[in-house]
Parts: sequence; structure tokens; C-alpha cells
Amino acid sequence: MLSRALIVHPSATAVAEIRDVLEPEVKSDGAQNESDLKRRLASTEYGVIVIESKPPLDPYVILTEITAAQPDAFVVLMIGDEREGRELEQSLPGKVFRFLAGPNQKWQLKGVVGEGLRLQRLEREQREVIKKLGLEYGKLQKREKLLDVVVKERTRELEIAYESLKANARQALLGFAEAIEAKDPYTKGHCGRTAVYAMALGREARLSEADLEILEFGAFLHDIGKIGVKDAVLLKPGALSDEEWVHMKTHPVIGFQISSQLDMLRPIIPCVRSHHERWEGGGYPDNMVGEEIPILARIVSISDAYDAMATDRPYKSALPIPQCKEIFRKQAGPQFDPELVELFVTRGIMEQFR
Ligand SMILES: [Fe+2]
Repeated sequence: MLSRALIVHPSATAVAEIRDVLEPEVKSDGAQNESDLKRRLASTEYGVIVIESKPPLDPYVILTEITAAQPDAFVVLMIGDEREGRELEQSLPGKVFRFLAGPNQKWQLKGVVGEGLRLQRLEREQREVIKKLGLEYGKLQKREKLLDVVVKERTRELEIAYESLKANARQALLGFAEAIEAKDPYTKGHCGRTAVYAMALGREARLSEADLEILEFGAFLHDIGKIGVKDAVLLKPGALSDEEWVHMKTHPVIGFQISSQLDMLRPIIPCVRSHHERWEGGGYPDNMVGEEIPILARIVSISDAYDAMATDRPYKSALPIPQCKEIFRKQAGPQFDPELVELFVTRGIMEQFR
């Protein structure tokens, strides 16, 4: 009941007079002594408390009582003269909302009490708003935490779904590699070994994890275009004629055409199309030079060549490592990227997989 005022005065007549002044706009109660005051403060919440400082009431005791019981109440103190007001303000600073002194104090009282009650209501509303904001903020924080948990769960689900998709894609790609090897049994295991050497060289060349992932599949499937090469050419035991070579050399472009049509193969296009390019030019199908050739293709080119040297074929035996190194050193520059060759021959990659 914050629109209510309490009048503290030792005389019942004075209390009644002040209450008359405030009525009917402001409802009020009266207290004539300390025990009256305590009882009122304990039972009712007041917006404004008016005290007329007359003996035997001690304004210090009353103000201390009010501050303890209802610290938010606005106190209006009617005093005899300004000196008394100054003394009280010095001993209890900030406890009194207004001092009223002089003969017209009763007639000013109505306005001052009204102002006190209005301010009191505003303060109360402000506190309510702040409290509500605090509650909303708390709710918001809880909601944010909940959202965080949901987002983490969804992310995990997506990760699992992505991993499973990747596993499926991997199986499909390995199926392609098997299809290539099934066509040409002499190259059995060639795709897998090329991928192993390429990964070792890619790591030495400090490729990113994302590039290594592409390189693994790119090396595995670099000859995917051989699916489109005629068996008579692909499986011919002897040397190829010029015309047959022209046909054989179409496999990077055929591979490119196959890879372009499948989303999951598109990232490996550089390996498929450019693994027969040469560092100094003169390779196929695009006659690229030096760093024009994608690095993944340069790595596959070295790995592919090494596997051809290091494996037994019907027409030749595997070359020993020193001889392979010699060929690589000779071809570093003309055929292969010299920096990659240096890594390939000096970092123990060949020795590791023999
Ligand atoms: Fe090839």
C-alpha cells in the first residue's frame, strides 16, 4: 500500500489535523510514540512518513527505527527552524526526503507528500523493471546454454552422417580402382602402391590434411581413364605402334571426362588429367610447364613412375633402389619437379616400402 502515509506526532489532535490536510487524496495512519510507530511499521508498508519533531519524540531514534524497518520510505520532517534541520541532516545524512520549517509547513505538506508518493511509485516501478530485465536476462542465458547444447548435438549428428557418407564414397572410389585393375591384371596393386608413395611424398612436402585426402584418392584413381582404353591396346604384350600410343595417351582426358561428371571425383581432376605432364614441357594432354602442373599431379607422376620401376612386369624385372634413384636424379628437371624428386630420393620413402 505505497500510496499510504504515516504521521508521527506525540499529540493525537496534531495527528488528526495533519491527516485532515492530506485527506482525501492520501490515506494515512497515525503514531504517537515509539511503540505505536514500531507496530505500524511492522504491519503496513508506507510510501511517505511525516514526522513532527516534538518532545518527548526523539527524531534520531524515530529516523533510525524507520531506516531499519522501511529503508525505502520517504521521510518528511517538520521542524521548528532551519538550524534544527541542519543538525539533523548532518547527523543522519540522506535519511530525510524533505525538511519543512516555518508557519506554512502544514499547507506545503500535501504537495510534498504527493511528490514523495509519486517518486516512491516511480522508484518501485524502476526496481520492478530492473528485476524483470534480470529475470529475462537469466532466461536468455539459460536459452543460450540450451541452444549451445542443441547445436553441439546437431553438429555431432552431422559429423557422424558426414563420416558415414565419406566411408561410402571411399568404398565407391575403391570400387573404381578395382575396375581399372581388373582390366589390366599386370598392374595389379599399382593404384594402391602409387597412393602409398604419393601420401609419403605429400607428407614430406607438408601438404595440408585436406590436400592429402584428395591426393590419396587422386593417386589411387589417376588412371581411371584407362577404363576407356581398348583392351587390344591396354593389354598388348609388346611395344605399341604410333597409332596405339595416340590412343593410349587419351586416358588422362577420358579420366577427366569421367571425373567431371561425378561430384565426389571432381576434386581429383588435377591428378587424373595432369599426371603425364612433364616439368620442362612436352607432356600430355596440355603440355604444361613447371608449376603450371598442379602439385598433386607432380606428386602422382613421381609415385606412378617409381611403382613402374620398382615392380616386376612380364617384360622386365623390378629395378634396385640405387638405379631408381639414378633415373630420378636424371629426370629431375626434364620430367619431374626437382624439389619433389629431392624429397622422394632423400627421405627414405623408397626404402620404407621395399
Ligand atoms: Fe597414366
